[in-house]
Amino acid sequence: MSREPDGKTRERAEYLREKLRYHNYRYFVLDDPEISDAEYDRMMQKLIEIENQWPQLATPDSPTTRVGSPPLEKFETAAHSVPMLSLDKGFDESDILAFDQRVKRGLKTDEEILYTVEPKMDGVAVELIYGGGVLETASTRGDGYTGELVTPNIKTVRSVPLRLNHPEEIPFPGLLEVRGEIFMETADFKRLNQWRMENGFPLFANPRNATAGSLRQLDSSITSRRPLRIYVYGIGLAEGISFSSHAEMLNTLEKLGLPVNPLVCRRITAQQTAEYYREMDGRRMGLSYEIDGIVMKVDRYDYHEQLGTTSRSPRWAVAVKFAALQERTLIKDIVVQVGRTGALTPVALLEPVNIGGVTVSRASLHNEDEVAKKDVRIGDTVLVQRAGDVIPEIVKVIESRRTGSEKRFEMPSKCPVCSSDAVRIEDEAVTRCINRDCPAQLKGNIRHFASKGGFDIDGLGTKLIDQLVDKKIVTSLADIFKLDVKALQNLERMGPKSAQNLVDAISASKRVHFSRFLYALGIRHVGEYVAKLLAAQYEDIDALAAAKREELQAIEGLGPVVAASIVEFFRRRENLETIQALQYLGVQTISEKKTQQAQPFKDKTFVLTGSLSSMTRNTAREKIEAAGGKVSGSVSSKTDYVVAGDLPGSKLEKAQNLGVTVLDDEGFLQFLRDAGIEV
Ligand code: IVH
Repeated sequence: MSREPDGKTRERAEYLREKLRYHNYRYFVLDDPEISDAEYDRMMQKLIEIENQWPQLATPDSPTTRVGSPPLEKFETAAHSVPMLSLDKGFDESDILAFDQRVKRGLKTDEEILYTVEPKMDGVAVELIYGGGVLETASTRGDGYTGELVTPNIKTVRSVPLRLNHPEEIPFPGLLEVRGEIFMETADFKRLNQWRMENGFPLFANPRNATAGSLRQLDSSITSRRPLRIYVYGIGLAEGISFSSHAEMLNTLEKLGLPVNPLVCRRITAQQTAEYYREMDGRRMGLSYEIDGIVMKVDRYDYHEQLGTTSRSPRWAVAVKFAALQERTLIKDIVVQVGRTGALTPVALLEPVNIGGVTVSRASLHNEDEVAKKDVRIGDTVLVQRAGDVIPEIVKVIESRRTGSEKRFEMPSKCPVCSSDAVRIEDEAVTRCINRDCPAQLKGNIRHFASKGGFDIDGLGTKLIDQLVDKKIVTSLADIFKLDVKALQNLERMGPKSAQNLVDAISASKRVHFSRFLYALGIRHVGEYVAKLLAAQYEDIDALAAAKREELQAIEGLGPVVAASIVEFFRRRENLETIQALQYLGVQTISEKKTQQAQPFKDKTFVLTGSLSSMTRNTAREKIEAAGGKVSGSVSSKTDYVVAGDLPGSKLEKAQNLGVTVLDDEGFLQFLRDAGIEV
C-alpha cells in the first residue's frame, strides 16, 4: 500500500466531512434531520475509517473530532469539567468481537476481558452535579465540552434524586458528577401526543424528540408535566470516592439512590456480550422505552487508563447499534382507508423495505393536512420510521430525489367503501364518510370492541369480522352476542369446533370490567387511559351517562374536549340503544370505582415476568391494580413481589439477587385468593 492517499480518497474524505457537517447542523441545531440516523452513522463510520487509515487526511475541524454542535442561545451554558465524550459505533455482532480484539491488542494481552454491558438508551444525555450529596446543577451534553444548564427542568424529573442516599458501607462523595440518559417511555409518549392532538398542539415525532423538547422548556412547570425518566450510566469528577471497575461504580450509584437500568449485565465475556446483544435486539420491541443498541464497556478501570481516549471517544467502550428503524423507500401509491369513526385516512403504499427485521409496506399519512404539510406525493422517495409499537410513519420526503413526475394526492369526495359523501367539517383535520351504516365503520367498531383493551374476544379477528359484516350476519355491535355455532360454522376458515370456541369466548367476555366496556364502546377520545380514569369515578354506565360536562371536566387528567365528547356520545339515541341491547343480551360490568374496593395491595409494587398459564399478564395487572397495587416494569429494591411465569428472563434473576419474594403461577393465584380477590 502506498504511503500517500490518492486524489480520489482525498476527495471522498472532503465530501464526507462536508455532508456530515451539513447533516450535523440539521440534526443538532435545527432538530430537523434529512437522513436516517443509520445513514449518518454509516457516513461517519466511513470517514473514521479513512482518517484512521490516512491520519494526514484528518483536519482539525473534521466532524470526527467533535461530538455535537454548540448549544442553542437561550439557556446559560456550563462547561463540563470532564468532557462528555461520544462513543465509537458498531453495527452488528461481528463488531463486538472485533472490539474485543482491539481491546486485547491495546492491552497487549491474550487474557479474557470482562465487560459490563448496558442497553443504549435513545434519549438525551445529561450531567448531574451533586455537592455534599445535594443536586446542585444539571446540564445537557451540548457539544461535549459545554452544555446548557437545565437544573430546574431536571429537578422535575422524579427519578432524579435531589439528595443522595448515605449508606454506611461506602465513603460519601463530597463532589460527584453523574451522567445518564433522560428518556420518555413509549406509552407516556403516546399519551402525551394523544393529549397534544386533542388540544391542538403539534405532535412530537418520537419519544427522543419529546424528551429533548421537554428539557428545552424555559418554563420548568411545563417540563414537570412531562413524564421524563432517567437511567444513569457513568461519572465525571468524583471526590472522596474511587472505583476499580465500571460495575463497582454502577453498584455505588445504585446505593446512592440513582436509577441504574436493571437490564445492565455486569462482567461478562465478549461471547456473552454477543448473546446479550441478540437477546436485547429480540426484546427491544417489548420494552417500555426505546433503545437503539447496547453499550459495551471494559469493566476494569486500570484498563481504561491503559487504553485511554481519543479526542472523540474512549477506547474502552463501544456502542453496538441494532439494525436501523428508519430507512428510505419509495411511495408507490396513496390509498384511502375508512376507519371506525368514518374518518378517511390516506395510507401510503410503499416499496417494501426491511426496517429492524420487519417488512414495512404501508404507512399512515393520518389526514389531508399531514399529507400537505409533509408534501408527500406519489412517486416520492421518503424516510420511513418504525419506533416501538408505534405504526410506521413517514418522517419526511427526500426532496433531492424528486424527478418532477411525482403525483399529488387528492382526498376523494366520496367514501371509497360505500360511495356516500365524504365531508370535512370546518376546524377538523379529518374527512369523514357521512353514512353511519357504512360497512367500513361497523367493521372498525367491531374490531375495536373485540380488541385486547376492550372485550378481548379471542378468535374474533379481522378476516372473520369482514365476513360477518359482508354477509350481513352482524349488523350492529350487539349482534356479536347473538352469534351461535350454526351461524358461524359455515364461514371460511371455520369448523364446528372453532365456531364453538368462539361462541364460548364471546359468552365468557360478557362479564367485563367497566373500563374495558367503556373503551370498547369507541367513544371519541376515550382510550384505555381515559376509560380507567372514568371507571375509577363512576360505578357503571348509568352513572356516567348522567354526568354533567363540568363534573367530567373536573376529573384530573380529563380535558374539555374529552368531556364534551362523552356528553355528546350519551346524547345520541343510537348509542343508548346499543348499550341497552348489550345489557339485554347479558353484558355485565364489574365496577372499579376507587372508594368501593378493598385495597389489600395498597402501596405494594409487583413486577410481572414470563407468561402465566392461569391468566394473561394484562388480567394479572388489572387484578393487582384493582386491589390498590402497582405494577412496575423493572425489579429494584423497592419491588415487593415478582410474579414469575414460564420463561421469566432476567427479572427473576434480579429478584433472587435482591431477595425479593418470588411467586410462581400457583403461588400467585393462592396469594390473590388469600387477599380476597376473585380469580
Ligand atoms: S456511555 C464515554 N452508556 O450514547 C461514554 N452512553 O454516543 C459516554 N447513551 O451521549 C457514554 N445509553 O447519550 C453510555 N448506557 C449508556 C448509554 C449511552 C445511551 C448515549 C449517551 C451518549 C451517547 C454516546
